Amino acid sequence: MIKDIVLNALNKQIKLEGDSSQLYLAMASWAEVKGLEGTANFLYTHADEERMHMLKLIKFINERGGKAFVPQIEEPKQDFSTLKDIFTAILKHEMFVSESINEIVGLTLEERDYSTHNFLQWYVSEQIEEEKLARNILDKLEMIGSDKGGLYLFDRDIVTLSVDATAE
Ligand code: FEO
Repeated sequence: MIKDIVLNALNKQIKLEGDSSQLYLAMASWAEVKGLEGTANFLYTHADEERMHMLKLIKFINERGGKAFVPQIEEPKQDFSTLKDIFTAILKHEMFVSESINEIVGLTLEERDYSTHNFLQWYVSEQIEEEKLARNILDKLEMIGSDKGGLYLFDRDIVTLSVDATAE
């Protein structure tokens, strides 16, 4: 049986992953309207991945005899100015998510909940990759600046950038 203190922390993380999915969805929609089809597809796919992160938590909690709480999801920011603006926001958001995961990992050690600790290792690795991916993309956008040809190629090639593609 999962302790209430750990259950509450995991339930908060469910909301954070759900909010992440909505944020990526809003960004994808913005990119689609701007004609940035490659970026939009990349972000739509990422929105689905965040939903999967949320589902994984729900199933884990329920399998451990807890009850997952499915939260109301916040309306994300809808307007962005540039691609750099978007990926800067993504990096900031992912760093926030990493902090949240690290907090829960620390809590599981305090509570000697080793099965939840073990389960969370997947999220720890995922966050390393997500931050790395956002930094990698920001570096590319920094190089491109406002060059239209560069941005065209970025949008065409972003499909080749994924968490796996940046893994060492
Ligand atoms: Fe599920 Fe991007 O954190």
